[in-house]
Amino acid sequence: MKVLFIGMGYVGTTTGLVLAEHGHTVTGFDIDQKKIDSLNQGNVYFYEPGLQKILSSHLNKNVFFTTNLKKAVEQNDLIFITVGTPSLANGSADLSYVKDAAKMIGKYINSEKTVVLKSTVPIGTTEKVQKWIEEAAQNNSPVKTVMNPEFLREGSALEDALHPDRIVIGTHDRKAANQLRMLYQNWSCPVIETTPKAAEMIKYASNSFLAAKISFINEMAKLCDKLQVNIQDVAHGMGLDPRIGPHFLKAGLGYGGSCFPKDVKELIYTADSWESPLEILNKVEEINRNQGGYFIEKIKKKLGSLKGKKAALFGLAFKPHTDDTRESVSYLIMERLLKEHAEIKVHDPVVELSSDWTNQGVKQFKDPYKAAKSADVILICTDWPEYEELDWAKVRQLVGSPNIFDGRNAMNSSNIKKLGFYYEGIGYF
Ligand code: UDX
Repeated sequence: MKVLFIGMGYVGTTTGLVLAEHGHTVTGFDIDQKKIDSLNQGNVYFYEPGLQKILSSHLNKNVFFTTNLKKAVEQNDLIFITVGTPSLANGSADLSYVKDAAKMIGKYINSEKTVVLKSTVPIGTTEKVQKWIEEAAQNNSPVKTVMNPEFLREGSALEDALHPDRIVIGTHDRKAANQLRMLYQNWSCPVIETTPKAAEMIKYASNSFLAAKISFINEMAKLCDKLQVNIQDVAHGMGLDPRIGPHFLKAGLGYGGSCFPKDVKELIYTADSWESPLEILNKVEEINRNQGGYFIEKIKKKLGSLKGKKAALFGLAFKPHTDDTRESVSYLIMERLLKEHAEIKVHDPVVELSSDWTNQGVKQFKDPYKAAKSADVILICTDWPEYEELDWAKVRQLVGSPNIFDGRNAMNSSNIKKLGFYYEGIGYF
């Protein structure tokens, strides 16, 4: 099938390339010329394992990129909207990019089209998109809309898009639903057909539930800190109950990224505006927001004042295997360390620190051992596997004082302690 994607971010690029891998012909549009130039040169402009290879093998065969939307809309009858929906100051999702995309489709529509929303959008948006397209249309070409939420995770986007747990098709139109079933016919997972609003809600409820799992285990971990109970054992014991499941029970510095923080806030906003507040999500959000501060307090409790102390911070990305730093707790921790007048040296395998930080005296090292040299404390903020694999005996020789605070419970604590380090995770020792 021929498919157009409007918005070449993580979701649009990954989904488009995966559809191409399944034999469909994909055109990617973005208003950002730089992104299109980069993709046209065969370069995925963000770090996501595996995508580069797929792009190279399909580019200009059945994958094309353009900034000419008129031609692209005219030539494709199946159009995906995959633009961003960032948070506004009041927590609600900014729908301006979705609205712009809908209006542009309306402007250029020349025949019957199926428009599929993949961006995470507040409940009721799919119906609005239909209206926005029709309002902008210069002719009476029929438009069908579908909500088809995306559940892929950054860092494992390709794997998730190739092997999803489920496909959700939210539409009132039988023909459109069948078109999507055809598009996804090679996938073997369950397909759910429902209304657009239910499809929108499935996405928000799923992300909020996973965020709640994380905040639940983090709250438990803080109690475990007091009681000297190992949260890893607790999570393992809980997770073996199939009703609970083992996933998203990893205690640490909380959730970041481009989805959970904004989606939880948006659902809270929607619930408030319908006067049906989601008290539980307010707590989930609050617990998550305070996790970085809790970590700093733990460090201060052990080291006292951080003034003049050398802190080596490992990991800037919000999670491993990505260069995405949106809502990454590492930055909040750096802010707190600067306020405490600590000296900060950072390392991340892929993220480069911006001049906003280096101008404030934060130093970045490409070599983690150099970042650790003379440090009074090492803070692990992202669970990149590289950190677990470091030669910690060598690190022990390099540091000024052997203190490790592991914000992701990523290390084997007993091995680390045997080397003479003082070690504290979150609910883990
Ligand atoms: C998430 C959803 O998982 C995905 O389905 C949706 O499409 C987009 O949002 P993503 O943001 O890429 O994906 O990352 P995810 O792996 O879900 O992790 C989110 C955050 O939670 C990360 O900061 C991670 O470190 C943290 N996390 C995750 C925990 O702190 N503990 C866990 O047990 C799991």
